[in-house]
Amino acid sequence: MQSVNFSPDDNPNQQRVYNIQDAAILHNASINVVHVGVRYRSLEALRDVSCVIKPGRLTGVYGPNGAGKSTLMKAMLGLVDSSGTVLYQGKPLTQQLEKVAYVPQRSQIDWTYPATVWDVVMMGRVKKTGWLRSFSGVSRRLAKSALERVGMSEYRNRAIGQLSGGQQQRVFLARALAQEAEIFCFDEPFVGIDQKTQTVLFEVFEELAKAGKTVLVVNHDLGETTTHFHDIILLNRQIVASGSRRQVLTEENLYSAYGGKVMYFSDAA
Ligand SMILES: Nc1ncnc2c1ncn2[C@@H]1O[C@H](COP(=O)(O)OP(=O)(O)O)[C@@H](O)[C@H]1O
Ligand SMILES: [Mg+2]
Repeated sequence: MQSVNFSPDDNPNQQRVYNIQDAAILHNASINVVHVGVRYRSLEALRDVSCVIKPGRLTGVYGPNGAGKSTLMKAMLGLVDSSGTVLYQGKPLTQQLEKVAYVPQRSQIDWTYPATVWDVVMMGRVKKTGWLRSFSGVSRRLAKSALERVGMSEYRNRAIGQLSGGQQQRVFLARALAQEAEIFCFDEPFVGIDQKTQTVLFEVFEELAKAGKTVLVVNHDLGETTTHFHDIILLNRQIVASGSRRQVLTEENLYSAYGGKVMYFSDAA
């Protein structure tokens, strides 16, 4: 039987070789990004991007500004035109968007929108209940416990625009939790937040991964956030490397992705 090298382990010395049927089963549960390309007019933002994003693990996407990180997330969710294929459990992800919670980059959210914290979290329930039907007791309970989980219950009647960056990010995390998604996509959630919010975010991400969810988080600064991720996708218009943190965070890969701009390298990986 044909063998493929499929190595989920952190330790490169313990690479396991699965047969192709095992690999197909593991692949099926994952998100498979296959030959994805995106053009914005004359700019080739992504070229031939292929990678696997596995459930039950925290996956970080890293790369410098303009590397196409947000574009990759948007292409996966059908928010920009792209070539190639993105599958989840063997079927196009864009046909299963009800399984996805997506929190865009802060700069893409209209913070003047007149919504309270409670409104924002309940918006996570819209697809489950529909705008025209009243929100069910289940939705209210889920929204309430999500706000409690991120420590924002006492702010439920505040306008979202009045909160600090960290508080806003926690409210969007609560919305994602209320959505009961299988796939969680966050674009630069750590920008402009406080330490407490960062701790809450990573705690919740880890809980989600332990519950078998797929958690994908875009970051741009390399730093101590890398140590929280099991898997890393290093991007610079194309894939520089992807796989377990230890395999990906090598000096050579970081140099390819960030060039001379790398200020950080340690054996923290
Ligand atoms: N809607 C758009 N139209 C034209 N160019 C865009 C658009 N969105 C992003 N770009 C360009 O595509 C490249 C990748 O952008 P982006 O995915 O936002 O990168 P990152 O998130 O890694 O900083 C950048 O050069 C950016 O200027
Ligand atoms: Mg971005």
